[in-house]
Amino acid sequence: MEKIQQRQSSGGAVRVAALLSLMVLFACKPEAPVGPEDKKIYTPVSTLRGEAPFPVGTAVQSGRIDQSSYANLINKEFSSITAEYEMKQDVIHMGPGSYEWGSSDAIVDFGVKNSIRVHGHALLWHSSAPAWFDTYSGDNAAFEQMMKTYIQTVVTRYKGKVASWDVVNEAFEDGSGAYRNTIYYQKMGPDYIAKCFQWAHEADPDALLFYNDYGAEYDNSKRKAIVEMIEDLKARGIPIHGFGFQMHINYNWPSLSELTKALDALKATGLKIHFSELDVRMNPANDLTSFTEARALAQEERYREIVTLYKTLPAEQQFGITLWGIKDNESWLLNFWGNPEWPLLFDSDFRYKIAHRGMVEGL
Ligand code: XIL
Repeated sequence: MEKIQQRQSSGGAVRVAALLSLMVLFACKPEAPVGPEDKKIYTPVSTLRGEAPFPVGTAVQSGRIDQSSYANLINKEFSSITAEYEMKQDVIHMGPGSYEWGSSDAIVDFGVKNSIRVHGHALLWHSSAPAWFDTYSGDNAAFEQMMKTYIQTVVTRYKGKVASWDVVNEAFEDGSGAYRNTIYYQKMGPDYIAKCFQWAHEADPDALLFYNDYGAEYDNSKRKAIVEMIEDLKARGIPIHGFGFQMHINYNWPSLSELTKALDALKATGLKIHFSELDVRMNPANDLTSFTEARALAQEERYREIVTLYKTLPAEQQFGITLWGIKDNESWLLNFWGNPEWPLLFDSDFRYKIAHRGMVEGL
């Protein structure tokens, strides 16, 4: 015993002990070291939902939210969810009068169970028009009646559970701001947008109704067309409560001054503003094969900048900011652009990227 005490008190023994514990540490180290060595990730000290004065959301899929890794993270960080694709018409509307509710119910139930706001997306979107529309044989009046029934069936089903809806998504052309020549436009005419808002409102007068689009961030003609459409609906007493900027942006485009101009133009309508599908492409020029520290820092700053910009809105116009996904490796952008990408706040192992720090600090 005495011997041991003597050894422990000697400087050499302390060094041996230190060396031994270092060896143990190294032995326990995971193969791909994480932590201070990797400056692209960090240990968070606060959460998005904890810091944000408005809801912060994420796009979700029913097949993931039943896994605890996703469910825990969503509950910790987010206070709003949007279905990434399972509340679109091609998933729900199987044929005239025929509906499939499994996935959308699962998502809405998840929100209700966890007291997370559910934003409905999207009642009408040309890209999710069901394939069977191509062979639909009814006339235009029958098609319009079918759309009314569809909208009112969906909105009624989730009345009191879904707080808000993107009623129409992407109705204008790029560059010109002309009405996009969709099947809805062809069969119902230019007033279809107003009709859809009216129908949705009749089904759930408490739901907040949004028009959602991309391009208003940087496309002057499209932005002008959207503002004119909103002002027209307002003047006619058609219930529209919000506008969603999708915000699929790049780390270096559009410029902050362009985004500020866009936000100010829509702010002037008095509607609630949703940054509804935020992600930040880090490799738009395809010049990266792996995510660099320099690009990660640029992303951190970009997220901080976007949140800071959003906070220039009056509180009553802050509907929230929704991220279009959780993990980089599951972003829709990978398939859409076919480049390596790292657009979101979490890496493929659910580790917190410093982009999260930028967003939290901006809040
Ligand atoms: C995308 C989803 O992320 C994909 O999973 C789906 O296959 C296609 O739609 N604008 C929108 C979103 O309004 O609904 C789109 O989401 C992305 C572009």
